[in-house]
Amino acid sequence: MEKKSGSKVIIIVLLVLLVLGAAGGGVYYFYQKQAPFRKLGELGYNEQQITVIKNKDLTAKVIETGDSELFRYALDQTINNADRYEYFLISDKDLPKMSIKDLYSVTSKMIELGYTAEDAAILTSKLDLDTITTLLRGEQPRDLELFADAIDHGFSITDSLLLASGNRELAEKIFNGDIAYERISPLMEKQYTSDEILTLLNNLSEDDYTFVMGMKYIPELPELSGKENFDMDMLPRYLMSLRSNRASMDDVVNWVNSDNDYIPADEIDYSAMYHDEEILADYTSYTYCVNKQYALPSNYEPSDLEYLPSGYYVLYHPMRHVAANAFVNMSDGSVVAGYERILAQSNYRSYDHQKSLYDEYVEQDGVALADTYSARPGHSEHQTGLVTDIGTASMDMLYFESYSGYDWVCENAHLYGFIQRYPEGKEYITGYEYESWHFRYVGVETATVIYERGWTLDEYALLFN
Ligand code: DAL
Ligand code: ZN
Repeated sequence: MEKKSGSKVIIIVLLVLLVLGAAGGGVYYFYQKQAPFRKLGELGYNEQQITVIKNKDLTAKVIETGDSELFRYALDQTINNADRYEYFLISDKDLPKMSIKDLYSVTSKMIELGYTAEDAAILTSKLDLDTITTLLRGEQPRDLELFADAIDHGFSITDSLLLASGNRELAEKIFNGDIAYERISPLMEKQYTSDEILTLLNNLSEDDYTFVMGMKYIPELPELSGKENFDMDMLPRYLMSLRSNRASMDDVVNWVNSDNDYIPADEIDYSAMYHDEEILADYTSYTYCVNKQYALPSNYEPSDLEYLPSGYYVLYHPMRHVAANAFVNMSDGSVVAGYERILAQSNYRSYDHQKSLYDEYVEQDGVALADTYSARPGHSEHQTGLVTDIGTASMDMLYFESYSGYDWVCENAHLYGFIQRYPEGKEYITGYEYESWHFRYVGVETATVIYERGWTLDEYALLFN
């Protein structure tokens, strides 16, 4: 009996222990489950915020981050932004030096603009509020780290954006002071890649590189610049030969250097040089090129045509103001140099005037012959108002080559801003027979480049217009 009651007691005790254990376990289990949320409370999140964190499954992430005033602030602004928690979950110890409110607003702006959370963090950690705000009004940097480094090196936002559009190797050379920023920025603005710029810097002489800085983007140039015997003066002809598929990249330099692109005047198909003609989009400069490819619109008439003073012309035709002045000076120069005064014989011609002339020549000589010496309407340089055919009182323009001051004019015209437009030996480029008398105003700077390099305006335009 005693034994029996003894075992009963044991069973009861065991049962009680079991119940207590289960309850304790339950309580403990419940306690453990609530631990993360208590932790959120400890981190300063209120009940409403904790609900959002729970709903968004962010508990672990938030605890891992630790104190984050920014995230608490973000939760209060608009709950939807919690979707972008990665932008705002920044631990207090990593917060950049700006107010939470500013940080929240620039970060929201970056979300709107499509920056990634990583990029937003780079910007806010490296840049001050003013820089970020200005940046966010414009374009996005291509390489954010590089952009931030450039800002760090004291470059303006605009310059840093340009540097960040290239690669780090080139930018580092600028940061180190190996290359001046001004030496590369014109090329970067013209869409040369960093690699292309490094290639040009490697291959070209200082002078050639400087010259290239003033040109437009020439896609073939980096590769061409690495070829043995590359000669900057020949660049337009390399391009013409490449683009017309007369030579390949492999052999174009030596091929052109040996004048293989040259076609004798009497073997040229002058009519065939009219192909893929285009109406010029821009004819506001003094350097634009009208030739068999590029025409002026039929209704174009310069607005500043004026007549030359008496004593300076054979025929009373107007010219554009700047060209008229330059011609008067050149004419005076011819007298000072000791020659008979040069006179303007034929200057501006309207589209309609050119049309009637050309039609007349075609009637008289046929198209093939007319195309050797007369431009089709729209394609005549005379329509620019920047041209004069030069003669003297005793010599018609057609004999200008025999004028005693002819060499003086050829050698000095550029100093007045004029170039001989259809030189002998360049017929295969200009598309016209040699005209000793036809001079075009392009301004002193351009005329000097063309004269010194031995180019035509067509060649110059290929690089500069
Ligand atoms: N004689 C030149 C090429 C012209 O007709 O414009
Ligand atoms: Zn002419």
